Parts: sequence; structure tokens; C-alpha cells
Amino acid sequence: MDRRRGGETVDRLMAQMTLAEKIGQLNLLAAGEGLVTGAATATPLAKRLDAGQVGAIFGTKSLASARDLQDRALAGSRLKIPLFFAEDVIHGHRTVFPLPIALAASWDMALIEATAGFAAAEASAEGLHQVYAPMIDVSRDARWGRMAESPGEDPHLAGAIAAAMTRGLQGDDPASPGRVAACLKHFVAYGAPLSGRDYDNASLAWEDLLETYLPPFAQGVAAGAASVMAAFNAVNKLPMHAHEPLIEGWLRGTTGFDGLVVSDYTGIRELTAHGLGSPATVVLRALAAGIDMDMVGEDYLAHLPALAEAGLDAPEAGLSVPAERVRALIDRACARVLGFKARLGLLDDPWRGLTGSPPAPDRAEGRALARKAAARSAVLLKNDGLLPHDPAARVALIGPLARDRANMLGTWSVSGRAADVTPLFEAMTAIAGRPPAHAPGCNLIEEDWLVDRLNVHGVTVTRDPRPEAEMLAEAVAVAQTADVVVVALGEAKEHAGESSSRLCPDLPAPQRRLLDALAATGTPLVVAVFAGRALALGGVDGRCGALLYAWHGGIAGPEGVADLIFGRAEPSGRLPVTLPAAPGQTPVSHAEDPTGRPWTGRFVKFRTGWLDLPGDRQPYPFGFGLSYTEVDYAPPRLSAAEAGPEDRVRLSVTLTNTGPRPATETVQVYLSDPEARITRPARHLVAFRHVDLAPGATREVVFEIGADLARYPLAPSLETARWVRDPGRIVLHVGPNSRDTRPVELTWRA
Ligand code: NOJ
Repeated sequence: MDRRRGGETVDRLMAQMTLAEKIGQLNLLAAGEGLVTGAATATPLAKRLDAGQVGAIFGTKSLASARDLQDRALAGSRLKIPLFFAEDVIHGHRTVFPLPIALAASWDMALIEATAGFAAAEASAEGLHQVYAPMIDVSRDARWGRMAESPGEDPHLAGAIAAAMTRGLQGDDPASPGRVAACLKHFVAYGAPLSGRDYDNASLAWEDLLETYLPPFAQGVAAGAASVMAAFNAVNKLPMHAHEPLIEGWLRGTTGFDGLVVSDYTGIRELTAHGLGSPATVVLRALAAGIDMDMVGEDYLAHLPALAEAGLDAPEAGLSVPAERVRALIDRACARVLGFKARLGLLDDPWRGLTGSPPAPDRAEGRALARKAAARSAVLLKNDGLLPHDPAARVALIGPLARDRANMLGTWSVSGRAADVTPLFEAMTAIAGRPPAHAPGCNLIEEDWLVDRLNVHGVTVTRDPRPEAEMLAEAVAVAQTADVVVVALGEAKEHAGESSSRLCPDLPAPQRRLLDALAATGTPLVVAVFAGRALALGGVDGRCGALLYAWHGGIAGPEGVADLIFGRAEPSGRLPVTLPAAPGQTPVSHAEDPTGRPWTGRFVKFRTGWLDLPGDRQPYPFGFGLSYTEVDYAPPRLSAAEAGPEDRVRLSVTLTNTGPRPATETVQVYLSDPEARITRPARHLVAFRHVDLAPGATREVVFEIGADLARYPLAPSLETARWVRDPGRIVLHVGPNSRDTRPVELTWRA
């Protein structure tokens, strides 16, 4: 870390600071009500600032308020140490882009980097120095609501996204104009909670952790990410806010990360509920584990002064720490906070990023990027030739999300405004030159109690008071007058997101009844699903001629969908998560380990599988997505069938666009290692490439394959983990998705 940027140095400051001042730097507070100008009594935040007891603030909503807070902090700090400002900028700031899971479906790293770059520029223009992104938790359980924020089920794709977002947010230097510091989160395995229940713990093989959940963090660190946030969950019995082996050991030791680690919201005090001991004990455990800043709980502030005086003897928690060690740990954390401020340029200039210059980027540019991103994120799952539509056709638009704005933003869009969303009805009207016939058809959900829960962050779900039968009859009448019906279905914004785990991740019942009624009319249906997670769509594809998985696409999400519907954009999205074939098929991923009685894709008695799962294959596997054209894959070829461990082998495949429209194809390479020291995934993604193909065009795509691709961890424990690779046979599978591939075998010599 660059700890010396101009005048003041971290070491010089540290030498002058009192213990109380150092502890104050570790306190990270929410802006909350901010500084209420003219208030008779100072707000709690103002009191803390006056006493020099705040290191940073998150959640400011304007440049002016950040400036006021900085002013107050500088006045309250004897050594004039500035605050830094942070915010949850997860998929755009004011300009809300598609959800992260949707952007992942683009498999387009340049696009993802561009959205992060735009978000950084908007955030930094409002005085923010750090954003709590990218969220890079690999997620294979559709019940878990935070799949919405995640890069999906695969560590290779997630790692590429971690790097692309870090580059987009930070550029070459998080202190440069228009850039912010990235914060990789949530460290680690937050996406693997038991039962898909948010905040729940993860118990998994160390090999899984090393191979599936940690690599995206390694990629983000390698790309220069300046900070990391700890996860709420425990990993293999030790809560992450106390996980010294993973934070100080793996993160800092193995990857060489030298930035700042922040807690999640009250994550330190929650260690007591996890069963790790008294408030003072858990404070010490978190500090020793490497949590440098305490978000919101103020537990460091409350307990560190006494701990620094007397140390702690807590045999019940297996802890005995002398005061001297506590002071050393406080110094370590404080130096990291100051080092982070130095890296942001704040120790040179406390007003860095708070001057309003450069100004926010052009919103029209952001909107165009958001629209392009939405079109590239939607995944075409089925098309019986219904799409694209001729704008002159008689199109009806039916469904509870047809005119929706607020839900389209998606979860964790804290600075977005529903008013900025163009609903699908308006987007289709603008392209076709006249409005589609329309009926809502049904309510989004039917349970009153669930409406209240979904509206927790503001009302996005309202109910049509009419009886369902009346709404259905109206929709059927509209459908009967049309050549084709676009049906807009899906989830509310807060169906997914934090604390939004679902027992049954499928379309809500009234929407399934609407689909049945519309299918019975015989009018061809195009179903567009707007959702925050991978929904089980059993029964949907049998009722429609085309199916588009559009996620929650942000302010221009519906416009991107309208572009696809009318053929103004070509579908190129590919699933970053397997869609469960039924709600109970979760967790699920393409990279499962084989069993002695492997899954054949359909039910076979006495083999792994589900008795009540109809069908004979995973309908929408990882990597799947269609285009408006056909791309033919010739059999893959290797430059050598055998190779030495240091050799590079060329894997080539020739693609031909045999259809009438252009394609952006995502060529995918999977690897399986059928003979190893431990069970290896049946297959897992090792490479992918975007290829643009004009109609009729043929292109050869070449991947360089090295033996390292087949390395894997052996980890009886975290401390004894090592990566190995074996000589012998591997199989490379090449194709347009994780299911429809062709194999080629390669043998590595010893
Ligand atoms: C809790 C969430 O888990 C985290 O992702 C977020 O950044 C913080 N709250 C701050 O809002």
C-alpha cells in the first residue's frame, strides 16, 4: 500500500496519536439523520465527530452533506484526520444498471467494467470514496435472495467479474478523479448458507472453499481491490468476523492483500449471538482476526479502551491476551485505516473528492449504457420463431409487471428512483409507434402479509382490488384480439435481496394461473420473466412460444427487453446460474461432484435424482442461452493429444453462423478430471470467449491450455492445504453451454 503520498505519513500520524484517537479511527458509522442544521441538540453522529471518534461514514446522500460532515470531523480531530465516505453502490448509483446477477449473464467483462466505471464516476461526484462492491459471493442456491447481487454459480466467471468491476471502480488508482475504492464482499462463503437462509452458516469441505468461494476474492485482490468486507456467516464453525485463519491467514497471507477490512453492519457484536463470548471478548476476537473497522455497532469504541488497559483473560472463550498485545492490534488496525486514507489521497488533501469536480457524468450516456446492458443481460431461453416481432404486428402486453417501474430497479438500488424507469408498456409503445393492448391480468402476489414484507423499503407492490376472475377475464379478452401476447411476469424487487430467502423459488401462484388462462386462448405467448434470482420455471415453457429471462434490469431494463422483442438488439445473454427444474432442486450447479450412482439427467431408480422431477434433462443449465440465429460448432481439436507439464496445447473450435442474423456467441470450455486423488466436479468452467459472427460467417476460436488448468486443492485442513496436479487424462468439453458440449481428451505426461 502506498502509505506516503505527499506531506503527512501514516507513521508520523501514528506516532502522534493517543489511544482514544486511534480507536476513534476504527469506528465506521451510518450517516443516518446526518447533521441536522439548526437542531437544538447535536445528533449522536455530531457528538461523535466533535469528539474525534469517527473514522468513516457510509450512506451520505449528497455532496453537501458529505462536505458538512468532513468539516465537522476536521474541526473535531486534533490532528485533522479526515473521514472517508462510503456507500452501497451495487449495480449503479443514480443510474441503476441491471442487477449484478443480470450483468453476469452478459458474460461481457468490458461491459461490466464500463457499468462499474460509470457508477464510480457518479458516486465520486457526490463525495463518495469507497463503494461496497463488487459482491462476489458464488451462489448456487436459488432460495438465497442475495443471489440477485451475486455473480452466479461459477468461480471462474465470478473471478473475471471481480477483476472487471474492480478495474471499473478503481481504474489504475482509486484516488484518481472519478474513481472510488472497491470493497470485495462478503468474505467468505456467504453465498453458501445452510438451507438458502440468509445469514446462516456454511459448512463445507475446505477444498470447496479453496476452489469455489475464495478464487473470486483472489482475483479481486490481484486486480488491486483496496478493501474487503467480512461476511455475517460462520465458515466451518468459526464466524467470519472472528476468522483469523481466513482473514489474516488466507486473505492477507496467501493473496498478499494489504488493504482495509471492514466489518459488516453490527457484525462484531453479532459474534456474541453466534456464541463466541461476551461483548468485550468478541471485540478482541474480531480485532485479532483482522477486522479493522467496526460498522455501526460501536463495539470497538465501547470496549477497546478498557481492553487496552487491562487485556483480557477469558478462559471460557479460550482467550488470554495481555494489554500490550491489544494495543499492538489497535495500532495495526489504525495503521490500515490511515493507509487506506492515504491511498485515497485524503491525507494529502482532506477535500479530495469533495469539491464537485469532476462533475457527474452525462446521465444520457449512462442511460444508453444501461439499455445496452439490459439487452445483453436478458437470456433467451426458448423461441419457436415468435421473436423478434414485427413492430407492425398486433401485440398485447399483459401481466402485473407490464407497467411497473419500482420493481424493475431491483434490490440494493439505494440511490435509484423509480421515476427514472421506463416501463415495458412505454418502451414497446415508443418502438412500435402505438401502445400495445394491455391488461394487468393478475396481482403480483396474493398474500397480504407478504405484500407488507415486500414493501419494507418503500411501496413497490400494490394490489388491484378486483376479484381475480374479473382480472383474468379481462386479460383473456385482450389476448383474444392480438396476434401475439407479451406476458410480463416475475418477482417484486424485494422478493430478492438481503433477508429475502424464499422457500419456493418459483413464479407466484396468481401469475401461474394467469399464464394458464392466456395459454388456453391459443394466442401465441412470449413470456418475459423479471426476477432477482434463478426461478424454477417448470410448466412455463410448455405454455409459451418464447421465453426471455430478463431479471430486474434497472432504469432501462424494460427498454432493453423491448429492443430484443422488436429485433433492435440481438439476444446474447447466457445463464450465470442453472435455473432449477423445480423449486426443490436447490442448491444446484453444473459443477457438482459425481457420485457412485451418477445423475443421468433423468430419474433412474437407485441412482442420484428426484423421483418427482419430470423431464429428462436440465432444461436451462448454466451457460445456456439462445440467439436469433443458429451457430454451428464443429468438433473441437487439440494440437496434441499428449503433452508435458510445461507444454501449452491449442484447443480449437470452428463456429459458423448458419442463420440469418448476427450473433454474439459465448464459446465455453469445461474440464473434467475423471481420475484424481479425490472426487473432482463432473465438469467445471475453465475458459470462455465472446465471438461476433455475421450471418454466414465462420471463425476459428483458439484456447491455450496448460496443465495448471487441472490443478486442484487437497485440504484436510485450511493450514495444510496444497494445490496439486496429476499426470493422466483430462477431458475438455466445448460448446455453447454447460450441457450441449463435445469432448476432446488430453493426457498430461508426468
Ligand atoms: C449489510 C449488507 O450485508 C452489506 O452488503 C452492506 O454493504 C452493508 N449492510 C451496508 O449497508
